[in-house]
Amino acid sequence: MTTSTSAEQQALDLDAADPLPTRRAEFHVPPHSAGDHTAGDHTAGDAAYFAGNSLGLQPKALRGRLGAELDDWARLGVEGHLEAQRPWLSYHELLRGPAARLVGARPEEVVVMNSLTVNLHLMMVSFYRPTPRRHAILIEDSAFPSDSYAVRSQAAFHGYDPDEAVIRLAPRPGEAVLRTDDVLDFLRADSGSVALILLGAVNYYTGELFDMDAITAAGHEAGAVVGWDLAHAAGNVPLRLHEAGADWAAWCSYKYLNAGPGSLSGVFVHERHLAHRTLPKFAGWWSTEAGTRFQMAPTVTPVDTADSWQLSNPPILAMAPVLVSLEMFEATGMAALRAKSMRLTGYLEELLDETCAKRPGVSVITPRDPRRRGAQLSVRIGGRDVGPLTARLSHDFGVIADARRPDVIRLAPAPMYNTFHDCWRAATALTAVLDGLATGLDG
Ligand SMILES: Cc1ncc(COP(=O)(O)O)c(C=O)c1O
Repeated sequence: MTTSTSAEQQALDLDAADPLPTRRAEFHVPPHSAGDHTAGDHTAGDAAYFAGNSLGLQPKALRGRLGAELDDWARLGVEGHLEAQRPWLSYHELLRGPAARLVGARPEEVVVMNSLTVNLHLMMVSFYRPTPRRHAILIEDSAFPSDSYAVRSQAAFHGYDPDEAVIRLAPRPGEAVLRTDDVLDFLRADSGSVALILLGAVNYYTGELFDMDAITAAGHEAGAVVGWDLAHAAGNVPLRLHEAGADWAAWCSYKYLNAGPGSLSGVFVHERHLAHRTLPKFAGWWSTEAGTRFQMAPTVTPVDTADSWQLSNPPILAMAPVLVSLEMFEATGMAALRAKSMRLTGYLEELLDETCAKRPGVSVITPRDPRRRGAQLSVRIGGRDVGPLTARLSHDFGVIADARRPDVIRLAPAPMYNTFHDCWRAATALTAVLDGLATGLDG
């Protein structure tokens, strides 16, 4: 058994030796000021931030970049559309290439616009085309609530009873995670009822990463359209949407992508749908062909790119953070980040296993195979309200994790800024908090 000091030193050594240096210094890491009286010196200073799967940290470069846009607006007013350092009229073009590379798409298949749930709806306008015989939407029973509400409202909008039209796939009895095989088995047995499959590529609750290629192929085999919610996958795991053949996907950029609260969403539409002129679609003045937009014609001139799903002129102050974020991902590269993510998550898993081993009811529910998960580990704390537990982690130890009721704590070491030392802090703090519960010192 290693002593706490040597375990901490080991974590520091791992940080020093890691082939991908952390970019932590380029982010604002929240301070940890309160509560170190109970936890010792190692918790003073910055927090150990494990909530990047909920809201990523602020890149320090952002303030200057936003300032530049504000300056251009102050200096140029409306002329900024053409004269700004990065002209606003074509600003969204700056995002297209890096966003496409991030999700494994061709540039014309991708556009950044709106927020995620809005885009899920815009995609379903085009890709949920129910008929009386085939109108089911397949989701995970543990789908993020917004997805669940969105698909239910789409079914109702088309005149179907959501309780009947929305199929929620649950894990096998006694299991915490819906396996890829469970989805495949369902689709093989389906008799042509499923119109649309909408799954989180990485599940927000369990952290499981589905086999997107296999599910997409099986979905198509079953005659369904396959869409992916990449909220927890974009910037977390390498993606290859085009090759996988997904029909469409959407993601937000405030989690692993660090573009700020409520920041913009990206959309992918597979090339094979781009020139489909009769696909139902809502339109606005940014749906029309850019070269003739300002002729102010009463009808849309179609474009054969994902841009044709745009409605409004892009919000530049919201796009600047996405651009800063994408530049950071381009500079480091998703492959290197994923490799580091696997090292960090594997290390955290080892430490958490030690914590769980001695504590009945406490277990990591995220898949053990690193290929079947992203950065997040979900720890089930059987029979406990996890809210007070994460509050204690934060207050006493400066470890910021999140509670997903009823009984899961999510910890996501984001490879852009988390360190092995952060992982050591998280596991040590969780152990101490659980021991406090066991001895009745905590409520
Ligand atoms: C998987 C998933 N889908 C959808 C959403 C909703 O995103 P938004 O509020 O940007 O529409 C979230 C937000 O966290 C999410 O995690």
